[in-house]
Amino acid sequence: MSAPTDREPAVEVVLCPDGPALVRSKVSPVDVVIPTDGSASTRPVSALCRCGRTGRDPWCDGTHKLAGRRRRPAEPATGKDET
Ligand code: FES
Repeated sequence: MSAPTDREPAVEVVLCPDGPALVRSKVSPVDVVIPTDGSASTRPVSALCRCGRTGRDPWCDGTHKLAGRRRRPAEPATGKDET
């Protein structure tokens, strides 16, 4: 693993469209602890389910791929209230 630069965060969370939240570290494994059952992951990248279909809650098991596309890709924010 390489050290993060001033512009790179040491830890980042990436929300995959129609998929998991990836918790990723550039410097060391990230401890993701689930307090309700005491489970934890200390991997460099952990995938947390956001679709609710996983059989390994709270971890993504890839089941979201069977559901197909649910959301349109995010559009850039305009900064204007569009209500
Ligand atoms: S996001 Fe992958 S199984 Fe839910």
